[in-house]
Amino acid sequence: MSSGISRIVGALAVSAALLTANGAQAAPDWSKVKAKNVWVFYPAQVAWERLMTPGRHSGRSKFIAGKNCFSCHGNIDEDPLGSSLVHAEKDIEPTPIPMKPGAIKMAVKLAHDADTFYARMDFELGDQPNAGQDKDWETKVTLMLDDGTVPEMTRAGCWSVCHDDVNSMNRGDEKITKYIFASRVPGDGGTIAIKPEEELAKMRAEGNYLEYWQARINPGKRTTPVDGIILEKRTENAKPAISVSSSTAKGVTTVILSRKMKVDGLHKAIVPGKTYSLGFAIHGGNTAHRFHYVSFERSMVLDQGEGDFVAELVPAAPAPAPKAAPAPAAK
Ligand code: HEC
Repeated sequence: MSSGISRIVGALAVSAALLTANGAQAAPDWSKVKAKNVWVFYPAQVAWERLMTPGRHSGRSKFIAGKNCFSCHGNIDEDPLGSSLVHAEKDIEPTPIPMKPGAIKMAVKLAHDADTFYARMDFELGDQPNAGQDKDWETKVTLMLDDGTVPEMTRAGCWSVCHDDVNSMNRGDEKITKYIFASRVPGDGGTIAIKPEEELAKMRAEGNYLEYWQARINPGKRTTPVDGIILEKRTENAKPAISVSSSTAKGVTTVILSRKMKVDGLHKAIVPGKTYSLGFAIHGGNTAHRFHYVSFERSMVLDQGEGDFVAELVPAAPAPAPKAAPAPAAK
């Protein structure tokens, strides 16, 4: 195709996209996408290190031997675990939020069109007491994504970045945010240190990090996109590549996160033939840090293959009938 023609076709595609509802991106026809349940639950201070401490967690030896978290716990234990942890029935939630629900069931739909990947989550938040920790945002919905570069993410999802020295965890340091193990090296006197910057730069260049996408939601405010990476810390992009939307009807909140499948910069290409690992999280009731709900790991492929999710190519929903033009304003 000559570049002149491709420019025109491109321009037409852009104006077609602009014609869809609310001027937003053309959404896929969600009625064509199968939903799968993903439970998210309250993890309290149960970090990776706690689960891997001998004698603390019955799943430890089998996990080390190769069994992943989901295969023991998935779609069975989230609600009982979350309800027990949120009410501090053990010693791992020093500051429980009274009356907070322990788990939330989401219906998740993943799909893509010619160039954009979409994740849709429908869920009931339940009665979330206002914890007052995050004054700006009532609810935050997050998707963490990897394309196989971080083996613990594939096996343990969110726990791959959940360490006990992270802010609000039991040995937590306010300055430490989520990180992956590969960003650390043994430091002096049995401590752990962050790798030198040139090694981190190499890891970034090689795509050796996790990506996260987040929708920040507050009634009366525009739902705001935030994205970034997790390597030696959580780093937010100055300009997000994702788009977000949210709505609530009859107690059900619907959140849609989307981005172009290939974007420059620190973003994973989303392509057929690779297996992705996903982790989901919800902060409800103006919470921050550990006071959220998280999922066990899920896998995803595009179009065909083996995975908890097969995100298929789905055409855009038919455009709504154009509204009658507004009457000209009276002079
Ligand atoms: C072989 C099965 C098995 C595997 C694999 C496994 N677990 Fe467990 N897990 C258990 C059992 C059984 C319990 C309940 C008894 C206990 O706390 O030891 C448990 C308890 C828990 C609890 C409650 C913790 C607490 O301290 O009360 C959490 C959270 C948890 N597991 C998360 C995980 C995560 C995350 C992984 C993967 C890194 C994982 N489990 C892997 C079997 C497993």
